Amino acid sequence: KDFQKVMEAKDQTAPGLHFVGKKEELIQAKRSFRTLEGRDILIIYHEGVFHAVDSYCYHAGGMLQNGDIEEINGKMCIICPKHKYKITLTEGECLYKGKDPREKSPVTRWYSKGVKQRIHVVTESDGNVFVKLSVSPAWIESDYYQGEKGKVERAKA
Ligand code: FES
Repeated sequence: KDFQKVMEAKDQTAPGLHFVGKKEELIQAKRSFRTLEGRDILIIYHEGVFHAVDSYCYHAGGMLQNGDIEEINGKMCIICPKHKYKITLTEGECLYKGKDPREKSPVTRWYSKGVKQRIHVVTESDGNVFVKLSVSPAWIESDYYQGEKGKVERAKA
């Protein structure tokens, strides 16, 4: 147990781990906006789980902060208020409903467009909540609306 405590304490000072608030405060707020290393992040508390996602929708920079949350196809999604794109909170995938014309009698079902929104890692320790930014080097479309250039693009969208 002591070992675990030591490891946790170490984690909290680990590079790239950002304290984002007290657990109770974040639960009460449900949605919290933070800027970490120049990146605008939305921290969501929903049904007992914390999520951290890029704050601006990959499609055209919509404010995910104001989106509803719904379970779609077994996955918790935030619905962008701008054009209603559905983004999974754990993977950042965009889901859409469609039919596969190659099927004999096509039925409407949910499909994924792939990962479009960058998702970050949330951890808790002793009532404190931390976010570690995603370091995946591959370009993810929501990257476009981050930073100074993103600000200009969001204003245009
Ligand atoms: Fe989010 Fe278009 S900006 S759906």
